[in-house]
Amino acid sequence: MDTTSARPSSLPRFPRNFLWGVSTSAQQIEGAVGEGGRGRSAWDVFAGEGGRIKDGSDPGVAVDHYHRYREDVGLLRELGVGAYRFSVAWPRVVPDGSGAVNAAGLDFYDRLVDALLAAGVEPLPTLFHWDTPQALEEHGGWLRRETAEHFAAYADAVAARLGDRVRRWITLNEPAELTLLGYGIGQHAPGRQLVFDALPAAHHQLLGHGLAVQALRARGAESIGIANSHGPTWRASDEEADAAAADLYDLLLNRLFAEPLLLGRYPDEGLAAMLPGPVAEDLKVISQPLDWYGINYYQPTVVGAPEPGGSGGPTDFGGVRIPSELPFAPREIEGYPRTDFGWPVVPEALTELLLTFRERYGASLPPVMITENGCAYNGLDDHERIAFLDGHLRALHEAMAAGVDVRGYFVWSLMDNFEWAEGYARRFGLVHIDYATLARTPKASFRWLRDALRDQARG
Ligand code: BGC
Repeated sequence: MDTTSARPSSLPRFPRNFLWGVSTSAQQIEGAVGEGGRGRSAWDVFAGEGGRIKDGSDPGVAVDHYHRYREDVGLLRELGVGAYRFSVAWPRVVPDGSGAVNAAGLDFYDRLVDALLAAGVEPLPTLFHWDTPQALEEHGGWLRRETAEHFAAYADAVAARLGDRVRRWITLNEPAELTLLGYGIGQHAPGRQLVFDALPAAHHQLLGHGLAVQALRARGAESIGIANSHGPTWRASDEEADAAAADLYDLLLNRLFAEPLLLGRYPDEGLAAMLPGPVAEDLKVISQPLDWYGINYYQPTVVGAPEPGGSGGPTDFGGVRIPSELPFAPREIEGYPRTDFGWPVVPEALTELLLTFRERYGASLPPVMITENGCAYNGLDDHERIAFLDGHLRALHEAMAAGVDVRGYFVWSLMDNFEWAEGYARRFGLVHIDYATLARTPKASFRWLRDALRDQARG
């Protein structure tokens, strides 16, 4: 079947200087975890514990990008994206998380950046995408303030090496997910189940972001953003208990991570009082103006109060076990197609999200970039992914037509990869990976996007 149909040309036209890209992260693609002096990450250890990763796999080889990066840069060139969002592995650069810098680790990113520039693709590094050095995790990881300081020192080391060629930077990826899934309910590394006692991990990541912004700017960085995950929260009903539960969820997943950055305050005083201080001073560091604000969008969430007559045990939701002691409960969204992951496909919620952000934050919201958006489907002829991307790009365009200043869009992900607690079973890539041979094969969606970008470039 010829999937490179005429559909791309029917996409609405995006601005000429709109930044098109794809995203990946180090722990999900690099492999080579024991090579080049790399230290262990919390994810290496977590995956090695057994029973943590659904298919029993680990990220030891992943897609072997560390050795095959030239081929992957070739794919980026062929796709025709303007930028590539990848992450730098902290334990590759500073194996113990603090102290000595591993020059061989930096050499890898040096080669990658040069290869990208030679291919005409802008490198857009994320400094932290969940691979906390295990040496720091053993002392509490992001629950400790020192981790934020070590993160800034690492950011400085990366900027010192790559800053002559990297124009734009991302500090953190999704501190909300690491706080909730990693420290709150233990679904992700480091597997802690602290529920609300996980909140210091949120504050310290935000502080780490602020300190890293200072370090990057001191090294002459031109443009800095963050990649925060956000999605609309829909109330399960108008009942007071459901509304309160949904508002709390929205506060924890959206406002807790946006407002310190954009408004210089936490969305709730009671919550701020639970955080390790000096919170007011830290907020000044956290809220330094950003050049742009990155949003990772996947799906909206319907939330209600926990069911009164429920079983009392944890429930499984979209692959995540939600403990019964949480004061809110996600509910299934009915009436939408679903990805292989079971996530609902709701493009219009992206428009809603962007309009809500503009309404909430007004002039305090810098230009936005969609730093991740994508879906898990199996198969090479992935027409569902084409429909997903087409729908979300239209929804994005609608938000832009309504006046939201969006400067770029990044597909998650360039290629299939290690999907955290799901292992390799969930495939988000535009490029298929055969895990037996590590062969890369572009899917129909890759050709669709390539043609759509060519079409956009024709102007
Ligand atoms: C993360 C990615 C992940 C993707 C799909 C985002 O939360 O940043 O690392 O693979 O979602 O689950």
